[in-house]
Amino acid sequence: MKNIVVLVSGGGTNLQALIDAEKSGIIKNGKITCVISSNPDAYALERAAKNNIPTEVIRRRDYDEFIEYDKALTALLKSKNADLIVLAGFMTILGHEVISAFPNRIINIHPALIPSFCGEGFYGLRVHEAALNKGVKLSGATAHFVNEVCDGGPIIIQKSVEVKSGDTPEVLQKRIMEQAEWKILPQAVSLFCQDKIKVVNNVAIICD
Ligand code: GRF
Repeated sequence: MKNIVVLVSGGGTNLQALIDAEKSGIIKNGKITCVISSNPDAYALERAAKNNIPTEVIRRRDYDEFIEYDKALTALLKSKNADLIVLAGFMTILGHEVISAFPNRIINIHPALIPSFCGEGFYGLRVHEAALNKGVKLSGATAHFVNEVCDGGPIIIQKSVEVKSGDTPEVLQKRIMEQAEWKILPQAVSLFCQDKIKVVNNVAIICD
C-alpha cells in the first residue's frame, strides 16, 4: 500500500475527489496518509479532518529564504514516508530540493490540455480566461508528473471538455473540474499506486 500525501492551499475539491475515490475503491493500493496545506485557513484542511486524515501546515512566509522552505518541505514529506505526492491546488512553487527528492513521484493536476495554456502565470481562472480569449472549442485537464519545468513533466492522463458559447472563466472552470479534474486525478493516482506508469525519455507510458 502506497502512502499518498496531498498538498493543498484552498477549497480542496480535488482532495475531496481523491478521498471519495479512495473510499469507493477507485484508488487501488494507495491511502491518503497526510494532507499538507500552505494556508492554515484552507477549507481542504477541514475536509481532511472530517475524514480523519492527519494534517500539517507549512507556510512559505515563515522562512526567510526559499531554500530553507524548500528543505523544510522536503524533510516534512520524507518524515511522512510519502511514496506519492499529489499537488491538488497547491499554490506555492516547488523547489529543486523537493522535486529532485521525489523524481516522477509528484503528480499535479492542471486545468487545461498541456501544452496549451500552461507554464508560468497560468493558474486558477487565468488559464480559463486565456482559453476563452483564444476561442478554443475544447479545453480540459491534464494529470502529469512534476519536474523542474513548470507544467513540463510527463503527461499521465488528459481529458477534453467542450467549451460552450457564452462560457465565462468561472463556468468553464467548474465544467472542467466536474468533467475532467475530479476524474483523471484519482485515475492517475491509482495507476501510480499500482506501478502501472513507466517514464521513458520524459514520456509516461501506461502499462494497463
Ligand atoms: C484546480 O483548478 C486545479 O486544476 C488547480 O487548482 C485548482 C484547485 O482547486 N491546480 P481545489 O482546491 O482542488 O478545489
